[in-house]
Amino acid sequence: MKKILIIGSKAQLGSDLSKELKNKSSIEIVALDHTQIELRDKSPVHKSITEPRPDIVINCGAYVRVDDCEENPPSHAIEVNALGAGFVAQASAEIGAVCVYISTDF
Ligand SMILES: NC(=O)c1ccc[n+]([C@@H]2O[C@H](COP(=O)([O-])OP(=O)(O)OC[C@H]3O[C@@H](n4cnc5c(N)ncnc54)[C@H](OP(=O)(O)O)[C@@H]3O)[C@@H](O)[C@H]2O)c1
Repeated sequence: MKKILIIGSKAQLGSDLSKELKNKSSIEIVALDHTQIELRDKSPVHKSITEPRPDIVINCGAYVRVDDCEENPPSHAIEVNALGAGFVAQASAEIGAVCVYISTDF
């Protein structure tokens, strides 16, 4: 049985992934939405990943307002999409979990 942690489980992509994977008998899903995990907070992100010890972490949490990112100083985008992504990657590496990001051309 593989345990998969989905961050951003209420996102467009995260909810589709959760639906797709939840009925597979060989997979246990741990789903966290924005009310349960804040990507900018290093220590809670670490705890949310290292405590359930998933085999795979799929991060669908992101700041996706592309126009805002381009028009304003991108500090919020950097905090969520770069530093937050780094916290996820570090915690995943610590427990040997595969860390997955799904790309887009948007
Ligand atoms: N949609 C697609 O077709 C698609 C395809 C390929 C790749 N992707 C990638 O998948 C990711 C998600 O995209 P999406 O289209 O699914 O966007 P979305 O529906 O807007 O989902 C983004 C999710 O991230 C959450 N979030 C935002 N800031 C956060 C933070 N600081 N901490 C924790 N969670 C936070 C949002 O919660 P709130 O709503 O509460 O802010 C929301 O649930 C992006 O990296 C995108 O590039 C998407």
